[in-house]
Amino acid sequence: MENLSPKAGDLEPIETASRDEIASLQLSRMRWSLSHAYENSGFYRKKFDDAGVHPDDLKSLADLAKFPFTVKSDLRDNYPFGMFAVPRKDIVRVHASSGTTGKPTVVGYTSNDISMWSDMVARSIRASGGRAGDIVHVAYGYGLFTGGLGAHYGAERLGCTVVPVSGGMTERQVTLITDFKPRVIMVTPSYMLSILDEFRRQGIDPRDSSLAVGIFGAEPWTNSMRSEIEDAFDMHAVDIYGLSEVMGPGVANECVETKDGLHIWEDHFYPEIIDPVTGEVLPDGELGELVFTTLTKEGLPIIRYRTRDLTRLLPGTARSMRRMEKITGRSDDMIILRGVNVFPTQIEEQILKVEGLAPHFQIRLTRSGRMDEMAIVVEATESAASDDARTASAKSLAHHVKSVVGVSAKIHVGPPGSAPRSEGKARRVVDERPKD
Ligand code: DLL
Repeated sequence: MENLSPKAGDLEPIETASRDEIASLQLSRMRWSLSHAYENSGFYRKKFDDAGVHPDDLKSLADLAKFPFTVKSDLRDNYPFGMFAVPRKDIVRVHASSGTTGKPTVVGYTSNDISMWSDMVARSIRASGGRAGDIVHVAYGYGLFTGGLGAHYGAERLGCTVVPVSGGMTERQVTLITDFKPRVIMVTPSYMLSILDEFRRQGIDPRDSSLAVGIFGAEPWTNSMRSEIEDAFDMHAVDIYGLSEVMGPGVANECVETKDGLHIWEDHFYPEIIDPVTGEVLPDGELGELVFTTLTKEGLPIIRYRTRDLTRLLPGTARSMRRMEKITGRSDDMIILRGVNVFPTQIEEQILKVEGLAPHFQIRLTRSGRMDEMAIVVEATESAASDDARTASAKSLAHHVKSVVGVSAKIHVGPPGSAPRSEGKARRVVDERPKD
């Protein structure tokens, strides 16, 4: 693989600024953001007043802990435009996330917000090893989802040639990659696996493709999955994180030269880790729920938004901004099986250890009597598709899951191609337990 370390002069000064410089910029921006929210959004004014806090109470960054959290239901309760802090005519774009129940949550951007977002995605693509002049194949979905358009504007901002393919039509994805020869691809890791299968189906060696960098996010994925994709395509696989309530993709991104967690672009997004039960702020290094405060966003300032994503904050390495560890999972995706907490990423890791298994999988939860049961639906690789090989793979996976994750699971190893495929965010857990 190419060595993609940045050259002197490639980075913005803030990316290598001292911690003091970063903190002082954060404090002045945080004061602005809290006042902007308080002055211009009835929602925040009431929330702060009810909690007995005022933006003037912020004397240091740690004082942020005095302010109340914002949660997803706040956005839903103010559907569609009730949380905007600028007149509707100044909102140039909305996005929305579907959500599993009820109304979607709607977010809005001013033209300055879109510009800041483009800058952050451009910074993320550069951190991943992309450069001006590259062809960037965007296979994140376009539309209300922030993935496609977010990636698109950032790649244009960096000076790349964008191919706005969106998700789906996998055969065509491979044709376009083969014909246009992009250097960079931006797509969910699970859909990249579907594209990988399609390369093989068409008899094209993925290692011969032009792809040198993949920027994968929108769902949890493991370092084992990174090795799988990097080996298959002979490319760098780098993690990008974001969420629509805070902005979209490009809130944090790994640096290709270290691949050691995602640097949070702290000049625009202030992170905290809290204890998900007590809400107390935890010190850097401890695992908890990630909370974000936007520092510059105009349309929809977000103060202490509880992401439900579980991770820890780590000191900067390739950049001075802090890193977040690759996400273990969302608190809502955590399966509690007979007292043991299980995340789909832990199952992914075990599947990738078994030689004869392909990396596509789904977890199904059922209840028999009073006992919850977990089944892992997975499939064999072409070279291990015989009945005997599948039985052996199932046994091996059951053993790894029992000994490492600590739960017994039923394993269904189907023939190649039988496990559900993703064209965007993979649906890892299907919960068929009766609702009580
Ligand atoms: O998924 C934005 C995005 C698009 C990020 C493209 C990266 C690439 P939402 O649909 O609002 O926004 O979903 C946000 O997805 O709270 C996480 O649970 C999950 N997520 C996003 N990126 C990652 C990642 C977009 N790199 C939710 N690792 C977040 C793990 C991720 N989970």
